[in-house]
Amino acid sequence: MRIFKCVLFVLIIFSIFGCQGKGGPGEVEVLHWWTSGGEAASLAVLKQLLEAEGHTWKDFAVAGGGGDQAMTVLKSRAVAGNPPAAAQVKGPQIQLWGDEGVLTNLDDVAKAENWDAILPKVVADIMKYKGNYVAVPVNVHRINWMWCNPAVFEKAGATIPTTWEEFETACQKIQAAGLIPVAWGGQPWQEATVFETIVAGVSGTDFYKKTMVQADPAALESDTMVKVLNTLKMIKQYTDPGAPGRDWNLATAMVIKGEAGMQFMGDWAKGEFTAAGKTPDVDYVAAPAPGTAKQFLFNIDSFIMFKVAKKNEAAQKAMARLILQPKFQEVFNINKGSIPVRMGMSEEPFDAPARLAMKDFSESSRSGDLVPSMAHEMAVMPAIRGAIMDAVTNFYNSDMTAEAAAKQLATAVKAAM
Ligand code: BGC
Repeated sequence: MRIFKCVLFVLIIFSIFGCQGKGGPGEVEVLHWWTSGGEAASLAVLKQLLEAEGHTWKDFAVAGGGGDQAMTVLKSRAVAGNPPAAAQVKGPQIQLWGDEGVLTNLDDVAKAENWDAILPKVVADIMKYKGNYVAVPVNVHRINWMWCNPAVFEKAGATIPTTWEEFETACQKIQAAGLIPVAWGGQPWQEATVFETIVAGVSGTDFYKKTMVQADPAALESDTMVKVLNTLKMIKQYTDPGAPGRDWNLATAMVIKGEAGMQFMGDWAKGEFTAAGKTPDVDYVAAPAPGTAKQFLFNIDSFIMFKVAKKNEAAQKAMARLILQPKFQEVFNINKGSIPVRMGMSEEPFDAPARLAMKDFSESSRSGDLVPSMAHEMAVMPAIRGAIMDAVTNFYNSDMTAEAAAKQLATAVKAAM
């Protein structure tokens, strides 16, 4: 009898602790920078799915579009030996975190869920460190969009531009009608977002690759770059005095409310129109930025997972699994403005801008016009991105000539290499 009781005791203890290690409820602390209306609504879907499986979501939001503030906070938490279970980290930076030896190997989830088959190979490769999955992708955003308010264009007698010349004409008409042509968010990452869009739109894909992906100093100080920088400065006269420091979603709100005609921004801006109950091609028009109809500057959000206590492993892996499941891919991306990263999803539930993005994504990948975003950390290492962003922001916010700025750009990038 005593022996039986003893065995029973051992079994109970095993079932409690063994279960926690394998599949019991746990907590996932998630660091992210999705704090705007559209972003928060999108992330809430993941939280709900995780909680429905009995796990706890500990939210660790660090405000600041583009994620630069979030990355600073993440580094200090990691240095203190206390990283969150999951953090929004993208592109080449995943390799840097892999080098630190702090990431959870997700191969068991990946194998069970067939990630190698449901993800495009280029995406899967970004998520792997030395051949093992350490990150899970969420979506595909396109950077080179222009978000327009058709009522503003109509009031001004302007048409939505497809070239930079047409853009200037439209801006002059909108200004003459007493409205703001361009809603501008004066923060370095937003200026870099418009800058890289102009690189693609003014000088084409090859020059984009040379400058924004290979960071070739000769191309960075070329006459073509001078032309790009002059185009960027040209836009400034069509922005309002409230632009410096403005958050991207407040700029989107200016277009939504009809105070401004257009905004250059990645398609997370669509998440704001959706959250405000607006309909594409009725309340707003999403068009590729001038000169970029065939290009797709891509930006893939992903979460890396840090090593966690045994009791939270199941929760962490559940989050990784849920992110790539079809239902989440559909609902999240509809809210977020992006397109699914999981292949083979039906287009049917998605709106016209998302369908255009899906079509352009596959066409650009065939034509060689699918390129990674520099501003959104998909193309170059953080030091080079920082050098480019500083040079662009210094130029945009000063009286420096485009010639001098191009030289400064090349010098800064060389120093960062
Ligand atoms: C992220 C988006 C986010 C945007 C604004 C980008 O870098 O990829 O998911 O919505 O920044 O914060």
